[in-house]
This record gives sequence, structure tokens and C-alpha cells, in this order.
Amino acid sequence: MLHSKIAGIGFYVPEKVVTNHDLMKVMDTTDEWIQERSGIKERRYGIKGVETPTTMGAAATKIACERAGISPEEIDFIVFATLSPDYYFPGCGVLLQRELGITHKEMGALDIRNQCSGFIYALSVADQFIKAGMYKNVLVVGSEMHSMGLDFTTRGRNVAVLFGDGAGAVVLQPTTEEGKGILTTHLHSDGTHAEELALLSPGSHGGYHLGTEQFGFPDVEYGEIFVYENLLENKTYYPNMNGQLVFKTAVTKFPEVIMEALNKTGYTPADIDMLVPHQANLRIAQFVQKTLRLPDEKVYNNIMKYGNTTAASIPIALCEAWEAGKIKDGDLVCLAAFGSGFTWGSALIRW
Ligand code: ACO
Repeated sequence: MLHSKIAGIGFYVPEKVVTNHDLMKVMDTTDEWIQERSGIKERRYGIKGVETPTTMGAAATKIACERAGISPEEIDFIVFATLSPDYYFPGCGVLLQRELGITHKEMGALDIRNQCSGFIYALSVADQFIKAGMYKNVLVVGSEMHSMGLDFTTRGRNVAVLFGDGAGAVVLQPTTEEGKGILTTHLHSDGTHAEELALLSPGSHGGYHLGTEQFGFPDVEYGEIFVYENLLENKTYYPNMNGQLVFKTAVTKFPEVIMEALNKTGYTPADIDMLVPHQANLRIAQFVQKTLRLPDEKVYNNIMKYGNTTAASIPIALCEAWEAGKIKDGDLVCLAAFGSGFTWGSALIRW
């Protein structure tokens, strides 16, 4: 039966390293607090006005294409996951198509807005296209430029210290080889706590046009007062997070969705050769590792170096683990993510 395999993988992180000590210069925080709560020592920030999710996605794509043995012109469809797009619209998919110089051919581009679970959602969507026989080379990208949208004052420190910039990409191709490639994917959502990990503005609810005098129709009751309170006073143009709720929910959903993938395919946690969890927080990953009783060498974490890169974290970690020889041909690799929405998901891959 037709299914997908990862034919090539690549990642890109900006050169600029920002340590916890660098953050201590601009906000009231400490290296100890950040490391103890999240495991993060440093992260990368892109160059303002030069690097964007699209340019970083293009850098990762070129490596993934080369490793897949194709040129970017051979890509049939782009699925681009990001929560920090270059523009509010259009999405990064078409911008990446232009950046890669492949606008002359018939192809499609789709943006996925599922934040930390974005890459798993994107991979699953791409997998369905391949299974349906629609496309031969589907590019899946996760890319984020968080550094452009964080509150670097003490007010925003609970969120700002966690995030970093970067991109990862994979090329999916069809295969008929039994038991190889993507074995199963599982996607979930529950909007009950949608605002507990969110960026509310710009948006049609909280006001679009930050920095202009008028935010929509000049209705004093709705337009001006609402927008003033929410957008300007509450700074809803910065992400907010209920950290404890996220932690509590994540440590339940991660193991659940991993077990769902294992049960579906007849495997147990002991069969996993490498778990690559979304790099949300080292404490969450360690909790999941303990729940599934996995030894250290079977879980790949790199949040210490890159922070949380949201939709990019899984492909960056997956690529880095593979480059380091920690994922080998024939290994059973499990990917899992949880994040804003809340949404969560998993994928099981025979490498
Ligand atoms: N530096 C120093 N102090 C800080 C910082 C900081 N960067 N941020 C918050 N604090 C202070 C708070 O102001 C508070 O001070 P107070 O006691 O005087 O009021 C104190 O630290 C404790 O704050 P809490 O928010 O209760 O801290 P908590 O122990 O819950 O840790 C954290 C916060 C790390 C966010 C934790 O809740 C957590 O790990 N949550 C999981 C969320 C997560 O990992 N999100 C990642 C992104 S979402 C995703 O990818 C799924």
C-alpha cells in the first residue's frame, strides 16, 4: 500500500546565540530560574528584517531537498507550519514558494496554524496527500521567528525566556515498502482553554491595526474602549501563557497520544528506538520519559541550546539526532507534541 517516507531532512538556526545571561541584562530573571524551570541555557535569534520564518524555512528546505536527491523545482506541494508568519496574510507557504524560485509551475501551498503541534499536523496532512496518490514530493516545514514578537520586559519574562528561532524541513515521498516510513499519525484538539496559551492580537476579536488611531468601526463602546483595554493596556499583542495549566495538561496528553500510536501499530514503549518530543520544556520531556520508562539514550532533547522553537522544534531535533547518528536505518522513531489550542498529536515512523 502507498504511504510516505521521509526522503530528506534539514534544519537551520540563526547564528546569533542569546544566553540566559544576555536576557538578565534586559529583564528581571536569572540563569538559575530559567534552567531549573525549563532546562534552557541559550537560544538563537534571527537578524531582524533579514531573517524570517520564510528565509529560515528556505535554508532548511534546500538541505532537505539535497538529501532527498531532488531540486526544489520538483516539490509538488508545500505544507508550512508556523505561529510567527512573515505577514498576517498571505501565509508563509506561498512566500517560501517564491523564495525557492518555483512560482512557474503548478503546485499548492498550505499554511498550518497549530502552534507547537504544527509540525505533527503538517506531517499528517502531507502524509494523507501522499497516501491518496496526489503528490510525489511534499515539503513539510516548521519555522518560527519568535524573537520579533516577545515581551522582553519583566512583565513578559515567564514567556520570553522560553522561546527561540529556527526552522526544520522534511521532504515526503511515496513508498510501497512494507513497514517503512510513516506508520501512523494521531491528531487531537480541545478548545476549552484556547486563550490560556495564546496571542490574541492582531485578530478580528481584539483589533487588527496596532499603531493606528482607529481599530475598526468607530464605535466607542466596542471599538475604542474594548481595543484600548485589551490590545494596548493588556498588551494582547504579546503571547500569554498559563504555565501551570500547560504543564499539567501536557504531561497527561503527551504519554496518551504516544500510547495511542503504539497501540495502533502493536508496539510498546520498549520498542521505541528514539522519542523526539516537541521541545516545550525539558521538565515536560523528562516527565514523559519517566512515565514511559524510557532510558536517556532513547529520548532526544536539544531545548538547552535552542529554547522552544514551536513548530520547528521537532524537525530540528529529529534532524540533529539523525545527523549525530542517534537515529539509524530501521529505527522506530516516535514524534509527539502538545501546545496552544490545546492541540496535540503523535507520529510513528520506521526510519
Ligand atoms: N525569571 C524569574 N522569575 C520568573 C520568571 C523568569 N523568567 N518568570 C516568572 N517568574 C516568577 C513569577 O513572577 C513568580 O514570582 P512570584 O512567586 O513572586 O509571583 C514565580 O517566578 C513563579 O511563577 P510561576 O509562573 O508560578 O512559575 P512556575 O513554577 O509555574 O514556572 C513555567 C513557570 C516554567 C512556565 C512552568 O509553569 C512551566 O514549565 N510550564 C509549562 C509551560 C511551558 O513549558 N510552556 C512552553 C511553551 S508552550 C508549549 O510549547 C507546549
